[in-house]
Amino acid sequence: MTKRLYIETVGCQMNMLDSELVVASLRQRGYELTGSPDDATAILFNTCSVRQLAEDKIYSALGKLRRLKQEHPEKVIGVLGCMAQKDQKLIFQRAPYVDVIVGPGQLHQVPDLIDEVEAGNGRQIEVSLGRRDGSATQIKRSHESFDPLRDAEMRPSPFQAYIRIQIGCNKFCTYCIVPMVRGPEQGRPPAQIVQEAYELAAQGCLEITLLGQTVNSYRYQEEGKTTKLADLLHRLHEVPRLQRIKFVTSYPKDMSCELLEAVRDLPKCSPYLHVPAQSGSNSVLERMKRGYTVEDYREMMQRIRETVPNAALSSDFIVGFCGETDEDFEQTIELVEECRFKNSFIFKYSERPGTKGAEHLADDVPLSVKKARNNHLLQIQNRISEEENRGFVGREVNVLVEGPSKAAEESPQETNVVQMMGRTHCDRIVVFEGNRRQAGQILPVTIYEVSPHTLFGQVITDCVGPEVYTLNV
Ligand code: 5AD
Ligand code: SF4
Repeated sequence: MTKRLYIETVGCQMNMLDSELVVASLRQRGYELTGSPDDATAILFNTCSVRQLAEDKIYSALGKLRRLKQEHPEKVIGVLGCMAQKDQKLIFQRAPYVDVIVGPGQLHQVPDLIDEVEAGNGRQIEVSLGRRDGSATQIKRSHESFDPLRDAEMRPSPFQAYIRIQIGCNKFCTYCIVPMVRGPEQGRPPAQIVQEAYELAAQGCLEITLLGQTVNSYRYQEEGKTTKLADLLHRLHEVPRLQRIKFVTSYPKDMSCELLEAVRDLPKCSPYLHVPAQSGSNSVLERMKRGYTVEDYREMMQRIRETVPNAALSSDFIVGFCGETDEDFEQTIELVEECRFKNSFIFKYSERPGTKGAEHLADDVPLSVKKARNNHLLQIQNRISEEENRGFVGREVNVLVEGPSKAAEESPQETNVVQMMGRTHCDRIVVFEGNRRQAGQILPVTIYEVSPHTLFGQVITDCVGPEVYTLNV
């Protein structure tokens, strides 16, 4: 009998990568992907715990499977990722028909655990140690990085890939659950990272995105030598055929001059930095325990502008954090106006049990105020994004073509000529009238119109064969 996997993923890029690797490991055991739980033999949810809403969605999706599981008890239902680590057995209580619970540090075990359930050995749970449940070494060991090699056909796109360079986080911002569920910060050995990049490039990959919660804090020590992110970028820049290297997410305090100089000097490094500020108010940053002041953030911004003047910057903000006043929020607006981010992700504060924030600080900003601040800030950011994009009108950009645009996907046509989408080196989305065969090429596109999140353009070449290839250095 063919085994069929249905998988739903929520959350960050780290989760996308985790799911991709779980899918790859199950494919090696003979699984095929299916788009419907009705048709699946195994149903997996890779979950996120960063905000309550993400968890609610998963519990509601699980609720919808109750009937299906009653009718088909042989289907294996699994909950993976951050919520599995955070809630553990509570998931069995809330959804008793779940068979498998696997934390993000135990994903290598997923295929075996599903086999165990199918062999009739009952429910399976594998999670890592909590941050107070053992010695530092024991806790680190219990969070294992899961980075098996992937074939080109096992990746969502053959010419783009994520590479994990770090797991966990040691910053302990008071609002954030990540250090609790993903464990201590641990860098992956540089030799492994570089080897993975060589193999991906040999498979035709043009763009890699290095992943870590505080990716620019990356360091790895061996034989008395420390490798930092800047060193890693220099080594990855040597990988033949690779065209673009990105890294997310950066932590403001660790944005060293050395790293910025690497981004400036290495043409394959995308001039794009995602450095969340979270707030523009010192008293809020202090309560968040972010470890920097607004003045520090401004100083970092100035260094970025001086060193990499063409860099596009993006940020995250939390509005309505404990004790945030109108004046605090005004200061966030001032920072956004000043920094002119390419885009910002704006979130309403969501109290997370298990964090210092939930323990010691009152979630005292009413939801209506959080919503109003969110909308207000988003409006300001959208205006800035559009103004910044306007500077691209009439200019030519090099676009790594990813595939048909969302609109084209939604109304599939037989013809090869469709609206295509891709990204500039500085991570701006570009949409143009093109050809499916252009996917995976880097093409020059002239921009004629913009919106806050998209540049609209026209391809400058009329050759669309796979041999046409513009180097974007
Ligand atoms: N509530 C709201 N947003 C949060 N983030 C992290 N924790 C919370 C929380 N408890 C946001 C931060 C982070 C992004 C990934 O999610 O802005 O940068
Ligand atoms: Fe969470 Fe702060 Fe770590 Fe980012 S740096 S993952 S916000 S604790």
